[in-house]
Amino acid sequence: MAKDDSGLSGRVAVVTGAGSGIGRASALAFADAGATVVCLDRDGPAAVATAEEAGEGAIAACLDVTDRTAVRRLVEAVRYEHGRLDVYANIAGAITDRGPVGSVTEEELDRGLAVNLKSLVFGCQAAAAAMTAGGAIVNVGSGTVDGAVADLAAYSIPKAGVLQLTRSLAAELGPAGIRVNAVSPGYIRTAMTEAHARDADGRLVEEKLRQVDEGQSERIPLRRPGSAAEVAAVVRFLASPAASYVTGQIIRVNGGSVMPL
Ligand SMILES: NC(=O)c1ccc[n+]([C@@H]2O[C@H](COP(=O)([O-])OP(=O)(O)OC[C@H]3O[C@@H](n4cnc5c(N)ncnc54)[C@H](O)[C@@H]3O)[C@@H](O)[C@H]2O)c1
Repeated sequence: MAKDDSGLSGRVAVVTGAGSGIGRASALAFADAGATVVCLDRDGPAAVATAEEAGEGAIAACLDVTDRTAVRRLVEAVRYEHGRLDVYANIAGAITDRGPVGSVTEEELDRGLAVNLKSLVFGCQAAAAAMTAGGAIVNVGSGTVDGAVADLAAYSIPKAGVLQLTRSLAAELGPAGIRVNAVSPGYIRTAMTEAHARDADGRLVEEKLRQVDEGQSERIPLRRPGSAAEVAAVVRFLASPAASYVTGQIIRVNGGSVMPL
């Protein structure tokens, strides 16, 4: 029985990056809405932990989203097993080594492009083929592309591509009843951002975390980091029938840090 009225009850959703942070929170949000959720992550135990938390009907899938064949096979299997695919949330992503465009290595550029852009193209291709009765794709971009952030070349260049991918696909898939939108998070407290506050042994240093939070919060009108759950709420909205006339849009969840017209 649906625990909320988002219209997602009985729907089937695949969530990538579901082992941590925004992906995990989104998978739980879909499960809470009564959807069957496939929790996909390359970190198998983390995917299983999210699926267990999501409850009955949730499934864990351990695979690397940069593997096009594996993504296609998984989506086909979900479609075959459940008879439908309604939602594909492209949330997996990874930060890359810091460095300017001028000196980014080909290897690091390839890594950034693979995990932060090509994998989303693969997911969208597989999902679109499986959404024979329409559906919703939600891509996760990044607020880093709202301005020009130095030294994040291999991360921000692919993330800019995610937004164009979203718009191109929305135009192409609209006639098939498939909506495609993007969420662009600002500074969200997850494992990805906590990495800035870890010591050489990987331990979280609370004082460092407080300093990072304070430094970031100064430029955010809401004066605090966002939570994964706050981003997940928007992912869920965009995937739901409540957003039935919303496509090709980029929704910023950033506490007001950037407010384009
Ligand atoms: N946290 C932020 O402030 C922030 C800001 C802007 C954008 N984002 C974006 O939000 C998304 C989620 O980030 P998060 O903060 O929750 O990070 P996170 O590190 O907490 O979670 C990312 C998850 O993706 C998985 N993953 C990474 N590469 C993968 C691969 N190749 N195949 C399968 N799974 C893979 C990881 O194992 C992890 O579970 C990312 O795309 C990130 O770029 C985050």
